[in-house]
Parts: sequence; C-alpha cells; structure tokens
Amino acid sequence: MTISTDHATVQRVSIQLAERSYDIQIAPGLLDQATAWQGLPKAGAALIVTNETVAPLYLARLQQSLKTHYPVVHVCSLPDGESHKTWESLNRIFDVLLAQACDRKTVLFALGGGVVGDITGFAAACYMRGVPFVQVPTTLLAQVDSSVGGKTAINHPLGKNMVGAFYQPERVVCDLSTLQTLPARELSAGLAEVIKYGPIADMVFLDWIEKHLGDLLARDPQALAYAVKRSCEIKAWVVGQDERESGIRAILNFGHTFGHAIEAGLGFGVWLHGEAVGCGMVMASRLSQQLGLVDAAFTERLTSLIAQAGLPVTGPDLGADVYLHHMRVDKKAEAGDIRFVLIDPPGKATVRGAPDALVAEVVQACCRA
Ligand code: NAD
Ligand code: GLY
Repeated sequence: MTISTDHATVQRVSIQLAERSYDIQIAPGLLDQATAWQGLPKAGAALIVTNETVAPLYLARLQQSLKTHYPVVHVCSLPDGESHKTWESLNRIFDVLLAQACDRKTVLFALGGGVVGDITGFAAACYMRGVPFVQVPTTLLAQVDSSVGGKTAINHPLGKNMVGAFYQPERVVCDLSTLQTLPARELSAGLAEVIKYGPIADMVFLDWIEKHLGDLLARDPQALAYAVKRSCEIKAWVVGQDERESGIRAILNFGHTFGHAIEAGLGFGVWLHGEAVGCGMVMASRLSQQLGLVDAAFTERLTSLIAQAGLPVTGPDLGADVYLHHMRVDKKAEAGDIRFVLIDPPGKATVRGAPDALVAEVVQACCRA
C-alpha cells in the first residue's frame, strides 16, 4: 500500500501476525514526520536506545518528534559495535529504565542499526516481562531485514545471537534519508541481505538488483526505496507464515550458516555481518551446486553480483574444522547435524544436511589459500 503525506510518499508493508500484526513505513524524512509516530501506544515515558555514532546524527530529531507524544523522553546511548551486543549493554538499558522508574507502559525506540535493534528488542521483551517497542532502523541491513520479524538477541562469547527472544515491534519506521550517511562498507553489508531475497524467493527481484546495482551503490533514493520495500514484502510474506522459524522462515538464513562461522571464527566484529553473509552465500551456492541443485552458471552469477556489491567472495582460511565446529552450534543444527539453506532451484530454497567431507571441500575451495 502507498499513501501520500505533505512531505513524501510513504510506502507501507504489513506484517500479518494476528494480534501482533504491524506496519513497516518506508519513506525519506520520516524522523520528522508527525504521521510516523501517531497511533503508537500511549505512555508516561519513552526511552530511545541508540549508540554513540547514531546519536549525534539523528537523536535530536527523534527526540523532537516524540516529545509531542510522550511527556518524558529518556535516552540510553550504547557503545557502538557488534562486540557490544552483550549482557553489559542490555543491563545499561535496564539501568536507565529502573533509575528513571519507568513503568510497564514505557515505549522503547531502537534508533540505529541491527545491533541496537536486536538489543533494544530483547530489552523490551524482558523489562517487566514485556513493554512495547518501535524499530527505527538507520542502516540498510536493518531496514531490509533485522528490524522486521521480531528476532531479538545478544551474543554469547560461544555463539552469535544465542540468547534472545521472538518479540514483535509495534511498528517499523524506515527513514530512507538516514542511509545517506551510512559508510560505504555498511551499505555493501546491507546489500548482502537485499541480494539474499532473490535466490531464495524472487528471481525477478535478482534481475532488478543486477540492473540497478549502480543506482543502489550511488544511493539513488528511488532505487533504495524499491529495494527496501521489496525486501520487506518478501520478509513479511515469509514471517507471516512462520513467525518462530519452525519451517519456512529458515530460508531467510541463506548464507548465514557459513557466515556465522566466519563471524565467530574470526571474532565478532572483524568482518561485518553482511560481509560474512555475502561470502556465506557464495559458499552455500557452491554447496548447492555440488549437490546438483543449481548449475555452475548460477553460482558464478551470484558470486559476481556479490563481488560487484563490494562484498568479499573469498572466505578467511580458518581451516575447514573451525568452520564445521562453529556451524555445529548454529541454531538450525539438530543433534549436532548441520543444516544448510540451499538453493533448489534458483528462486526457491530448501533446508537440508550435507556430508561433512563435501562441506569441507566447499569451504576449502572458497577460502584464501
Ligand atoms: P550495526 O548495527 O553495527 O550498524 C553498522 C554501523 O553503522 C554501526 O557503526 C552504526 O553505528 C552505524 N550506523 C548506523 N546507522 C547509521 C547511519 N544512518 N549513518 C552512519 N552510521 C550509521 O550493523 P547492522 O549491519 O545494521 O546490523 C548487524 C546486526 O544485525 C548483527 O548483530 C546481526 O546479527 C543483526 N541481524 C539481526 C537480524 C534479525 O532478524 N533480528 C537479521 C539480520 C541481522
Ligand atoms: N534474519 C533472519 C530472520 O529474520 O529470520
């Protein structure tokens, strides 16, 4: 659905989850638009959770908009980075909420990328056994993926996103203008999650991404608007069928089993999540190819697109055993058997196991010697 406002056309994508349904609003300039914040739960206070990088850029504008709706707007600014997606950061949110005597109606706002969004969502799920929260994603990755669908978590030193909850936001507000200040490396990381939706669900969208990659890298507002909207539509379609990942939702993890092994093996934060996913998709496509599910031309096409998006396509040489070790603690693993999201055929994904020897062969072939 598309609606017009005084300032810009706002695109809306609905996540249909019965009483937990909500809208994603997508447009430039939403931080300052009154309509973006109307109709949210009423409360005596709001808390904006952000980080030290995003706060100087966008905090004042969100505070200004929320002041119309909430008598008090508190702020919790966290240190920046994946390495701070921890209990310590979570506790800093609880410290502010408790020090300010925030009650169970307090609404949390996650202003930032996926790290802030995931931690804030988990804090909202836990505080007083659950308070409402709103996602205000400011990275491409967060706008096309992490802010949508209710996965919230922090990392454990032994595994990524291992402690968390499914907890849906009240609304997702994607202000596309915020993408203009994103570092180029982060834009590329977000493109990995955009590209992901093609092979798993929509090859027409993959064609479109190939055609408009230059526009996306140049941050053309119309190209970004379409990429965010189409990505959110596909994610909404998947999450609407399987909120808690008992089935089809696992396909959203295409490239993530290998990617999480890269992130954990190198230490969180060395490669960006999107970079690891990009390279992981190359590995997962190559594994699909070895199993006869896609042809070599498909793997080459995907690898080329990922490389042109500015993402690594050669993995760090951690040794196949290290990859296999980290993949065994992946959340999809069952009784120690690793399960991979594979493409079968392009435009559809399947979740299945593969022999360790074949996985090791693929990892070696995709890693720097
Ligand atoms: P991030 O949150 O670390 O943000 C990337 C960097 O960009 C940070 O330094 C951040 O401060 C900065 N930043 C954010 N917005 C900015 C802006 N507009 N201008 C300038 N700088 C800006 O990383 P991310 O890629 O957004 O998210 C990655 C995280 O998301 C990972 O922890 C991953 O596990 C998680 N994730 C979660 C889901 C989910 O479904 N919940 C899905 C995918 C990824
Ligand atoms: N990012 C994967 C999911 O939301 O399920």
